[in-house]
Amino acid sequence: MPNRRRSWAEPYKIKMVEPIKMTTRNERLSAIEDAGYNTFLLRSEDVYIDLLTDSGTSAMSDRQWAGMMMGDEAYAGSRNFYEMEDAVRDVYGYRNVIPTHQGRAAEHMISQLLIKDGDVIPGNMYFTTTRLHQELAGGKFVDVIIDEAHQPEVLHPFKGNVHLDKLQAVIDEYGADRIPYVCIATSVNMCGGQPISLENFRAVSDMAHENGILVVHDMTRVAENALLIKEREKDYADRSIADIVRSICDLTDVATMSSKKDHLVNIGGFLAVNDDDLADKARNMVVVYEGLHTYGGMAGRDMQALAIGIHESIDYSHIYARVGQVHYLGHKIADAGVPIVWPIGTHGVFLDAKRFLPHVDQDLFPAQALAAEIYVDSGVRSMERGNVSSGRDPVTGGNRRPNLELVRLTLPRRVYTQAHMDVVAESVIEVWDRRDRIGGLEFTYEPEYLRFFQARFRPVPAGTKPVEAGIEREAVATT
Ligand SMILES: Cc1ncc(COP(=O)(O)O)c(C=O)c1O
Repeated sequence: MPNRRRSWAEPYKIKMVEPIKMTTRNERLSAIEDAGYNTFLLRSEDVYIDLLTDSGTSAMSDRQWAGMMMGDEAYAGSRNFYEMEDAVRDVYGYRNVIPTHQGRAAEHMISQLLIKDGDVIPGNMYFTTTRLHQELAGGKFVDVIIDEAHQPEVLHPFKGNVHLDKLQAVIDEYGADRIPYVCIATSVNMCGGQPISLENFRAVSDMAHENGILVVHDMTRVAENALLIKEREKDYADRSIADIVRSICDLTDVATMSSKKDHLVNIGGFLAVNDDDLADKARNMVVVYEGLHTYGGMAGRDMQALAIGIHESIDYSHIYARVGQVHYLGHKIADAGVPIVWPIGTHGVFLDAKRFLPHVDQDLFPAQALAAEIYVDSGVRSMERGNVSSGRDPVTGGNRRPNLELVRLTLPRRVYTQAHMDVVAESVIEVWDRRDRIGGLEFTYEPEYLRFFQARFRPVPAGTKPVEAGIEREAVATT
């Protein structure tokens, strides 16, 4: 275990590098204009330090690359699938593994298999693709996370916790028959990579199971959550990451996994199911949308790297350094007075755009504008997690105006150094120092689904009111 009283360093050395290029401010101004002020539409070549996402952007280890050479590219029954299946069973304990090309394919399948028209799905805060698949299957997501999760400045060690009274109220209101499952994420992405405690997860699992309701686990960042349980939850300080991860999974019936995060691979995921009948249905479905049930859209070599990544993800020195780098960046930014989400979470530093740009109305998308401004300043790419990501309320059609209006600086695993973090912090602080001059944005193109990926915007001057920009306010704030 690293000694906390002394400096510590990444538990690896670098043996292959990819050059990155710094552009001029004028080049970046033109790039962001071409990208419609959406950092998703920038070309990666025009980015200096890429903190858009930690999804599929991590560096694989030498062992994972060696595994890539061992790909068994048979259409059916690839050896690599069985290695992946063994790794999932060993580490997480789920009985059946249905491979998918990435996480949202698993979300699609479980939503289609379990949700009926008019059902409700309680969860600890929405995630964009998860909620959309629930809605497309005829369901309605209901947020049952604790209130603190929606308050960026409030300190709470487990902001990913479920408010048990809220969950009980949903069960009382709709009845267990209309709740196919409770959807619980570990390391909740949309509120800043915040963990759920084992104590709370156990209570949720008990409540669901007593009512005959399944528990579906979005386990995308379960190892990161486990680290914070080890550090913050009573009685877990001496338990291993592997042990904590297993204790979490044992509380749940089904899991969806985007291996592009915890598993340190560039593509891949799976649906894991304990019930054999449900697994058969999922296997029958995967052949329609993804590929045979022994590859599910991945190459054999991808499954091999994934299997190795599962074991690497629960290595303490890895996960400690991974989250430690996020905290290094977060403290550096916060020490300069920049408002961020507290506590600092696991996979990124989340800037609080409402407090950063209080003069920009939420319907002029302050977080989107701030992400664009940081890019122009330094070539650092981040992403909006606020009113654009949240989308429109299906009933009112208005922007959802979530309480959290955030810019996410997301750290790929094992990719950037401490010097890169210093550059990022310097840029954010410089933008903070001239924040009064930053205005908002308005849509020029708004796609129907997951609009944050492909929307385009144009700037409106600082001080513009939404109504002057032709925007009528319809939706009421949601929590
Ligand atoms: C919490 C969470 N769930 C699900 C997904 C969806 O996974 P994928 O992007 O692999 O489809 C993501 C991806 O960002 C995520 O962060």
